[in-house]
Amino acid sequence: MSTEWNVYLDNNATTPTDPRVVEKMIPYFHEISANPSSIHGAGRRARDAVEEAREIISRLVNCRTEEVYFTSGGTEADNLAIKGTALSQNERKKIITSEIEHHAVLTTCEHMAKFGYEIVKTPVDQHGIVDLDFLSKSVDENTLLVSIMHANNEVGTIEPMGEITRVAHRHGAIVHTDAVQTTGKIPIDIDALGIDMLSLSGHKFYGPKGIGALVVRRGIRFEPLHHGGHHEKNKRAGTENVPGIVGLGKACDIALAEMASEEERIKAMRERLWAGIDHNVEDVRLNGHPQKRLANTLNVSVRYIEGESMLLNLDMHGIFASSGSACTSGSLEASHVLLAMGLPHELAHGSLRFSLGRFNKDEEIDHVIKVFPEIVRKLRAISPLYKDKSGRH
Ligand SMILES: Cc1ncc(COP(=O)(O)O)c(C=O)c1O
Repeated sequence: MSTEWNVYLDNNATTPTDPRVVEKMIPYFHEISANPSSIHGAGRRARDAVEEAREIISRLVNCRTEEVYFTSGGTEADNLAIKGTALSQNERKKIITSEIEHHAVLTTCEHMAKFGYEIVKTPVDQHGIVDLDFLSKSVDENTLLVSIMHANNEVGTIEPMGEITRVAHRHGAIVHTDAVQTTGKIPIDIDALGIDMLSLSGHKFYGPKGIGALVVRRGIRFEPLHHGGHHEKNKRAGTENVPGIVGLGKACDIALAEMASEEERIKAMRERLWAGIDHNVEDVRLNGHPQKRLANTLNVSVRYIEGESMLLNLDMHGIFASSGSACTSGSLEASHVLLAMGLPHELAHGSLRFSLGRFNKDEEIDHVIKVFPEIVRKLRAISPLYKDKSGRH
């Protein structure tokens, strides 16, 4: 089946690089391509570009410029935060996280169990909000780190970071947040929220892939994972990815200027998409918090059919969405996030995530609203589960 449509609704997996970002990066591949550690003029120009980007990032999250450490992306930033703090001390042996973290945090925490750390996973309610009572009871004098994501990549629920840091700091625990899905999408004030460490990633908000940062507040101790040269104040050895860093800076610059208006426009499209689905398909359910949710994320469960079948059919109509978590799609395991939110397996398997972005247009949403109910009808017609249900009526 051929289609002229090319509707990209998988922006939580990755975003297309904004052409303005690409344009800003290009000179740094050739004209300004010296090593920023070189002391000659060419090196200094590259260094200036790196430091300018660091400054823009610090404005986006409201931290000091020297608190930004460049990494290869969100995964490395998460690893550096968790392992780096653990390597810097030997007193506290508990790490608290949540059940709905991205695997970059979950797997890293689980790995630390091999080194004698007790790992506690905070449960969430039906909307994906962490249980603050449980957290409060779990944090103690033995807790090194509380690592809870700012917003979830699958359902978009935004966690109450201010309350989380208040609870954790009572016992002197460090708070890390994986803000990969919120940076550039919603305002972040690391100071006001009391966050100690924050991970961000360029390719989730129209910057290039393979670049990110870990923000570490002054006074928080952490050891590097990469050893070598003196880059990033001895915390992350390796020649800087200058074009990537410049691109990340430009993505932050655009976000600072356009975040508010963009959020409104994307939210209106998402609400229209949900209304179109909800009115035309029976037995659908919205997953995630009804209000405290990223403006671009729509996660739905469609009863009696599989997420993967819907995805493949949407693909044939030129619509690109996702089922389960982006990074594990391709696996047929039900989403650990939806299961933690209490969804039965059947609904977790029948889930689909549409994540909208800067480059989506109204007519693309109209195309999905037209095509999707037809796909559901077709799949339900061959679904044994649906036949059982119809037979019971
Ligand atoms: C919440 C979250 N954390 C971390 C990552 C990993 O980021 P990166 O792809 O930059 O390594 C992702 C990417 O899917 C994510 O959604």
